Amino acid sequence: MASFNLLLLPGDGIGPEVMTEVQKVAGFLDKAGIASFETETDLVGGASFDAHKKAVTDAAVARAGAADAVLFGAVGGPKWADVPYGERPEAGLLRLRKDLGLFANLRPAVCYPALADASSLKREIVEGLDIMIVRELTGGVYFGEPKEIVTLETGEKRAVDTQIYTTHEIERIAAVAFDLARLRRNKVTSSEKNNVMKSGVLWKQVVTALHQRDYKDVELEHHLADACGMQLVRWPKQYDVIVCDNLFGDMLSDVASMLTGSLGMLPSASLGAPDAKTGKRKAMYEPVHGSAPDIAGKGLANPLAMICSFGMALRYSFNLAEAADLVDRAVADVLASGLRTKDIAAAGQNAVGTTEMGDAVVKALQHLN
Ligand code: NAD
Ligand code: IPM
Ligand code: MN
Repeated sequence: MASFNLLLLPGDGIGPEVMTEVQKVAGFLDKAGIASFETETDLVGGASFDAHKKAVTDAAVARAGAADAVLFGAVGGPKWADVPYGERPEAGLLRLRKDLGLFANLRPAVCYPALADASSLKREIVEGLDIMIVRELTGGVYFGEPKEIVTLETGEKRAVDTQIYTTHEIERIAAVAFDLARLRRNKVTSSEKNNVMKSGVLWKQVVTALHQRDYKDVELEHHLADACGMQLVRWPKQYDVIVCDNLFGDMLSDVASMLTGSLGMLPSASLGAPDAKTGKRKAMYEPVHGSAPDIAGKGLANPLAMICSFGMALRYSFNLAEAADLVDRAVADVLASGLRTKDIAAAGQNAVGTTEMGDAVVKALQHLN
């Protein structure tokens, strides 16, 4: 049986709650003889700040780099509102992405049949939806320098963030999008704002040139990012793969989450470039949602985004496509059986907690297997 090293970084708020449920799924795969996982756990975010005065330690980053894959819960919360900016919980997540070179963030938005009525949009708009947002994750305004607040001679303050993209950064993320599209419905929509931003002008040029050179068989269209947000709620099924920069990808994926019913449903995979020798990619699997301070500690969090993120690890890091399909089917079956956490329950419908939902997925896995 294949064996893999997993680093668990539960983090803050609902992070540890949803991580507990994923461990049950890993335990099932082990018992079923599908794959075994050696897990280690470390601190990140506010939890790491409380212990070490750092949002993530060098040692934790090194462990993350050495693992076959990292499972990340969530970070942040009001408790850390006043910590130094460089050590705010989110800085730990950003450092992991940057230091591990995880430039490609895959955010699939799939509307499970049973949840077509859980979306705030009409059933016919979301039913059968299956899109993939490919978000650039290690560049753009998140990391561009200067990034500062300076005091001017007048005493007034001036804040600067810097959006930077190079040809190479755009080309490698666009290639990920084109490659994925070939395995799906063969269409890529590139989203930027070339009407306002120089980085948008270069983005469009580079994506167009790469398409001409290597991917003429894939359909390519360009949508300005604001219009793309509008189209995502007007008629999302026009999309297959959307590729965009770090900031637009952050926003568009939160928008897309509501097409699936809840932010608690959206998984993601953050991938590095394949190693020249081994072909292996560094990878971190992280739900799109945050630490949800409003429901943390109450056992109400939906663990499906975290569980499906682990499903993505099976697919993209461990080459266990069948096991990944099994997890997806178990989730679909649990939802089809009517089980709902509060975020996806209809008004007046009984909702279960985090633990019950996780247990139900494991039961469904046992049944399917
Ligand atoms: P959030 O994603 O934490 O919560 C937004 C809303 O969605 C809340 O009402 C929350 O209850 C709900 N929600 C989110 N996940 C859910 C789940 N699994 N089940 C049920 N409901 C869920 O976003 P926010 O409130 O804007 O941010 C809170 C903190 O999380 C901030 O500090 C933010 O920086 C951080 N954050 C972290 C990550 C991450 O660690 N990957 C991602 C986004 C936000
Ligand atoms: C996400 C989050 C992060 C981001 C924050 C917590 C740094 O919102 O993963 O979507 O902006 O990338
Ligand atoms: Mn976000």
